[in-house]
Order: sequence, then C-alpha cells, then structure tokens
Amino acid sequence: MADPTTVRTDARRHHDPQVRGFASDNYAGTHPEILAAIALANGGHQIAYGEDDYTEHLQRVMHSHFGPTAEVFPVFNGTGANVVSLQAMTDRWGAVICAESAHINVDEGGAPERVGGLKLLTVPTPDGKLTPELIDRQAYGWDDEHRAMPQVVSITQNTELGTVYTPDEIRAICDHAHGHGMKVHLDGARIANAAASLDVPMRTFTNTVGVDVLSFGGTKNGAIFGEAVVVLNPDAVRAMKHLRKLSMQLASKMRFVSVQLEALLAGDLWLRNARHANAMAQRLAEGVRAVDGVEILHPVQANAVFARLPHEVSERLQKRFRFYFWDEAAGDVRWMCSFDTTEDDVDAFVLALKEEMAK
Ligand SMILES: Cc1ncc(COP(=O)(O)O)c(C=O)c1O
Repeated sequence: MADPTTVRTDARRHHDPQVRGFASDNYAGTHPEILAAIALANGGHQIAYGEDDYTEHLQRVMHSHFGPTAEVFPVFNGTGANVVSLQAMTDRWGAVICAESAHINVDEGGAPERVGGLKLLTVPTPDGKLTPELIDRQAYGWDDEHRAMPQVVSITQNTELGTVYTPDEIRAICDHAHGHGMKVHLDGARIANAAASLDVPMRTFTNTVGVDVLSFGGTKNGAIFGEAVVVLNPDAVRAMKHLRKLSMQLASKMRFVSVQLEALLAGDLWLRNARHANAMAQRLAEGVRAVDGVEILHPVQANAVFARLPHEVSERLQKRFRFYFWDEAAGDVRWMCSFDTTEDDVDAFVLALKEEMAK
C-alpha cells in the first residue's frame, strides 16, 4: 500500500509563483525552511492538543528569547492570539486601552468585542503609537461602576502604520500602566520586523521593559499560519489554557503550528526574513522619495511604506501591482514588503510608479 504521508508529485499549480505585489505580507507564501520543518514533523503519531515533542521544544526555544518564565500557547492566527490574551488579562467588567488604528479595533471584525466580550477604549494617535499622555485620555474612572474599567493597555509593535516604538517608549508605557494597576499587552504580529529595525533582541522591548503578555506573530514572517500567546508575566493572566480552547484556538495537530514557530526561532530565520523585508521597504522608500508628487506619510521603520499620491495614479498602478488604499478619500496607500520581496520587484514597482505619474 502507498505511504499515505508521501507528497503527491502530480499536484497542479494554480498560480504564477513569479507574481508578487505590495498588498500585504500575508500575500507571500511560506519560507522553504518552514515547509521543510513541517515535513520533518510529519509521519508517526504524536500526542494531540499540545503535548507533542515540537510544542515542548518550542517552549524551550521561547525561553532562549524571552527568559525562563515565558510560557507559550500556540494558536492559529493573530486575531485569536489577541482575543485570547486580552480575555485572559481582563475581568468581565474590564476594558482595553488601545490606539484608534490598532488592529484589534479596526481589523478584527469586532472579535475582541463579540468573541472576547471586551470593551475597547480607543485613542487617536498621529503615528500609531500610544504614549503615557495619550493613555491618560482613557485611563480614569476605575471606581466608576458606569464605566468599563481600564485594566489593560494594548500596543502594537511594529505599529499598523509601520512605525517602531523604542524600548524606552515601551518602558514608559509599561511603568505608567502598571502605576495605575493596568497590565500591558503587545500585539507582535510583526515583532520580528521591529527587532530587526531596532537591532536588539525581542526581550529588550518586551519583558525587559515590563510587557506582560505578547501576541507573537509568525505568519507575516514566513509561516503558513501560526502565532502564539507568550505569557511573560504569569501574574497577568488567568485560565489561558481554558480560554484558548473556548476561543476555538486550540489546534489538535499542534505539532504543525509549533514546528513552524520553532523553525523561525531556533536559529536566525526570523531575523533574516525580517531584515530582508525591512531592507526592501527601505529600498522602496528611497525609490519613491525620488518621484515628484508622491509623499511618504510616516517614518519607514519596518516593512511598510505609506504614501499619498493622486488617486487615479494609484488606480492605474493597481492594475500592474496589487496594493491597497489605506485611506481612499485622502489618496493614502500602503505598500508592504515581505520576506520574499526581491530587489527587482521593488525596482520594477518604482519604475511603474514613475511611468504612471508621468502620464
Ligand atoms: C497588527 C496586526 N495584528 C494582528 C494581525 C493578525 O491577524 P490575523 O488574524 O489575520 O492573523 C495582523 C494581520 O494583519 C496585524 O497586522
């Protein structure tokens, strides 16, 4: 009988693997080293729901990045990591302070509210970053039974606008939040890009400066799917284990999530991928700066470039390369680079931009 785990070689390909755009780091495929790691984890039987050898090893790998108290809970996706983390950090009457532009507020379909039962208290920010002063716009009324109680500050590193907090900025947020009895959650869907940008270990801007719980991102950095809640301060959470299952984020064949994160983190793949994506964004920004009539909107500190250009130019350019409007009325667009973006992709895009601007 044929081995049921053997890969079929006659599988048909339905897309052109040479086509890449600037729409999202989620458009990219999977890094070959991660695919190889998945194949290695295949075959035989392993205990389901997280008691497998790969999840156990991932735990040790996480310790090497975040210290011996870190506890990892692999999940399917970033929304799940955020919703599980924030539920575990709040009481039923609690609320989460976040930037108005935070993924949890604008891009999770209301899951924090509807699945997590959480109240979000949002603050407008110029660059996606919270500060102690901005937090204070919502940090009040702990004794007021009429107001959801601010219990957590959630920040995103790097931010949804491609900016990166310094470790000192995060320390100031943590000190401020803790001073008010609140905890700090960090949405690290692109934590590797932030570490590459700052050129520091990930712990330098997480547990070292007081972050309590982290949503660790693997998907945008080369995994097929796979993120994790990393509890950095065990006193900040309750019932993680139960909430992960309750929130439909407990993978039965968890070894295949864990092995992807292990493949990223056991060596330097996470950093290589992130450095490359960031370097491509720098190359793109440099090219774009030389084009009259195109304005770069935020400091380019990770793998995203935000720009403002005439609407009709963007529409024509979108027929040649995929990317999204960020604020269509204002003419703002977002261009994302990923681990597999090439220099040629960037140069071809900049050339196309020049051609469309000149028409
Ligand atoms: C900042 C941020 N957080 C979390 C996520 C995770 O989202 P998903 O549930 O699609 O994995 C994303 C993905 O776009 C993101 O940009």
